[in-house]
Amino acid sequence: MNILLTGGAGYIGSHTAVVLMQEGHEVIIFDNFSNSKRSVLNRLEKITGKLIVCIDGDIRNRSLVKQTLQYYKIDAVLHFAGLKAVGESSEDPLAYYDNNVAGTISLLMAMKSCSVKILIFSSSATVYGVPHYLPIDEKHPTDPESPYGKTKLQIEQILSDLAKSDSSWRIFALRYFNPVGAHESGLIGEDPNGTPNNLMPYISQVAYGILDKLKIYGNDYDTPDGTGVRDYIHVMDLAEGHLAALDYVGNHNEAFSVMNLGTGNGCSVLELVNLYEYEASKKIPYEISARRTGDIAACYANPEMAFLKMGWKSKKTLREMCFDSWRWASTSLQKHKD
Ligand code: NAD
Ligand code: WQD
Repeated sequence: MNILLTGGAGYIGSHTAVVLMQEGHEVIIFDNFSNSKRSVLNRLEKITGKLIVCIDGDIRNRSLVKQTLQYYKIDAVLHFAGLKAVGESSEDPLAYYDNNVAGTISLLMAMKSCSVKILIFSSSATVYGVPHYLPIDEKHPTDPESPYGKTKLQIEQILSDLAKSDSSWRIFALRYFNPVGAHESGLIGEDPNGTPNNLMPYISQVAYGILDKLKIYGNDYDTPDGTGVRDYIHVMDLAEGHLAALDYVGNHNEAFSVMNLGTGNGCSVLELVNLYEYEASKKIPYEISARRTGDIAACYANPEMAFLKMGWKSKKTLREMCFDSWRWASTSLQKHKD
């Protein structure tokens, strides 16, 4: 298939590009590089041994998206492009609604006019909000707290309405839990700008000596060791999940579905720190600090639907997630020290 990856130069998109190309698909990346670097493209070529086609553009540029869909005879779109910083979305909600919601509407209009009707959308477990029960299945009520989370839910609702209006669409919204880890080559991985907000890249920078110590946001939660529990999933497993979803939408008559992509296992902050220390052979100094506003005690997926429908389940262990994060950190973080 000819597959367009909006946001394909970013963290999850670049790993998915590798898996798709290795399966023999033609991948066309469409990215405005607002949160990624062009050097990713050379690295992807190194990993796959193939030339990467990349369009430098914004998904809100509808005529450029249309031209790209037509010129490359695109069969399906994997839509990763979006802004994703929860805190920033409260400071500048308009930027989030414009980029994520308006950007998706523009993309959908371009797709509709070119009769490209297969779409896999990067949604998030953040749409569930505070868990009412665990593990979280797809029937769990949705009630996101941040503007970022609301953009994801609004997009899901738009996609659902679109599929109701025209049953020839094949749309999958994948709700990712906490993606971590990196490709085994150590050539691509998560490379946040500035001080990381997320746990794993923060731990990596402490392990590499860029940051002094980790602040653990609260050890008085109602969890086994008091620290927050999350469902960390290896980014390569997530990439495989997209392949399974593409296969599924091509062979079933469902116009719209939502699905969790998680492991089903909860891991606490302290557990992750201990595993990382072991895998990296590095001490991770930490201190316990106050809870972070908006955090929840625990969140992990019921991943059964993905297995029952698509035969997909995560394979990689937490140790592999830590080891691969460290391998990527130790090849990529030197620039922060220079
Ligand atoms: P990322 O920031 O690394 O990648 C997103 C890519 O989209 C970047 O390369 C960026 O330059 C590009 N982009 C952003 N706006 C664009 C626009 N208007 N036009 C063209 N390109 C644009 O993020 P990621 O971690 O790879 O996440 C991919 C998707 O998955 C996002 O939609 C995110 O909301 C979603 N998601 C991420 C996580 C996570 O923890 N990483 C969890 C759940 C869902
Ligand atoms: C994990 C745990 C923190 C940093 C976020 C988004 C979510 C999704 C994934 C996009 C929590 C603790 C963290 C630190 C810490 N992204 N922590 N010290 O908050 O579960 O989810 O990323 O859709 O929408 O909200 O992930 O990695 O920030 O935190 O103690 O310096 O680590 O309190 O328990 P989170 P996270």
